[in-house]
Amino acid sequence: MVSNRNKFTNKFGFIAAAAGSAVGLGNIWRFPFEVGKGGGAAFLVVYLVFCFVLCYPLLITEIAIGRRAQKNPVGAFRAMKHPNWTFIGFLSVLCGILILSFYNVVSGWVFGYFVEMLLGNFAIGDNFSEYVKDIRTVGGYSLFFIAVTAFIVSKGVTQGIEKASKIMMPTLLVIILGLVIYAFTLDNAAEGLKFYLIPDPSKLTVEVIYSALGQAFFSLSLGMGALITYGSYLKKHEDIVFSGFIVTLADVSIAFLAGLMIFPFIFSQGLSTEGGTGLIFITLPGMFANLGPVLGIIVGSLFFLLLSFAALTSTISLMELPVSYLVDQHDMKREYAVWISAFIIFLIGIPSLVGNGYSPFFTNFITYLGAENPTDFMTFIADLSSNTLLPFGGLSIAVFSVYVWKRRKLFRELSYGRESFLKSWTARYVGFCLQYIAPLILGMIFIITIFETFLGIHFFK
Ligand code: PFF
Repeated sequence: MVSNRNKFTNKFGFIAAAAGSAVGLGNIWRFPFEVGKGGGAAFLVVYLVFCFVLCYPLLITEIAIGRRAQKNPVGAFRAMKHPNWTFIGFLSVLCGILILSFYNVVSGWVFGYFVEMLLGNFAIGDNFSEYVKDIRTVGGYSLFFIAVTAFIVSKGVTQGIEKASKIMMPTLLVIILGLVIYAFTLDNAAEGLKFYLIPDPSKLTVEVIYSALGQAFFSLSLGMGALITYGSYLKKHEDIVFSGFIVTLADVSIAFLAGLMIFPFIFSQGLSTEGGTGLIFITLPGMFANLGPVLGIIVGSLFFLLLSFAALTSTISLMELPVSYLVDQHDMKREYAVWISAFIIFLIGIPSLVGNGYSPFFTNFITYLGAENPTDFMTFIADLSSNTLLPFGGLSIAVFSVYVWKRRKLFRELSYGRESFLKSWTARYVGFCLQYIAPLILGMIFIITIFETFLGIHFFK
């Protein structure tokens, strides 16, 4: 299948964009609090194993499907002559829209915090719950964030997505390395590193394993066609097996570095590692305040700038999902597709925006069966999309690739750009993983999530 689709210029362009999609709030915001909740290093070890053993084969498979089909996830299955599987594509686009709708709200908070840090307003950490209720301010920031995302996506794959990722990803790496080095100089840094790096096997529960898998999936942008879309912009001679490995490595490394930065931060101030979702918004500003006005402003604003960049390269990839669908399937002009998508996604995000205290209805949106307390709208959408639809998407893609499209054709696609792949141990492992391990584990996770989260039937308690 040859097409004149706009393509990433070279390997680096693709890797920057795909790693940009993967590296996001998931790595710097969610990963440390999951580690904190999951007892430190035990979580880290399980997470690393999942990323390389289970997720990497799926990641290269998604990219290969995209490159083979030269289409967005909805068109991909039709183009590959398996129209019955188009439902995966629709689910992917839907899931992308849902994730972006709340991800953009959190990105708005992050950008708002960047501005507050620049102004030296460290007290914001104590007022987080008031801050997120102030919907004019946070709504304004999230509107700004989606507009910047839309602007970049409207410029196209090479001039927009690739160019922005090539600038932001290296900058992000420099900032995080600088902050890690700084974190090492703090008092008690060693205690933080011990918590983070020395595993305590007694902390290894089924629940930790379950959250580590969810984290690996979300963090690598798997199971929802973002990588099918990016794969469709990849040239035929590029080596997916290698590039996919670098993307996995980059994602894991940034998450790892985020831990190296945050745990010394936390232990240096004697704070709790169990700050949960508020770890970054509530706990850290207090630590920046203790650094004094000048250093506090520098470190605090660099930290939230880092997070804003990480978030932006991910929102770009999420926005590209509906956009590529509208452009490919409905022949829409890219500019229209972008601004229509941005508008609709912003509207869908409004309940998440107001569901953090401003609107009692959306704050106490739903009470799951068997639960004592209601769940807010944003958490509900996150549970539905990232915890339920992503494993289902991953499962469907694994089953599709080996049982429907067939391993031989997948491997042929993966061998363009790396002839030696066909006879390698990697190929054998990838085949085995897609055929047995991935369907088994992801099928289990999907079912467990439905029972645990929505039906109140607990396996872990
Ligand atoms: N991987 C991103 C993160 O870790 O923040 C989130 C994400 C982006 C998920 C794009 C899915 C996706 F398609």
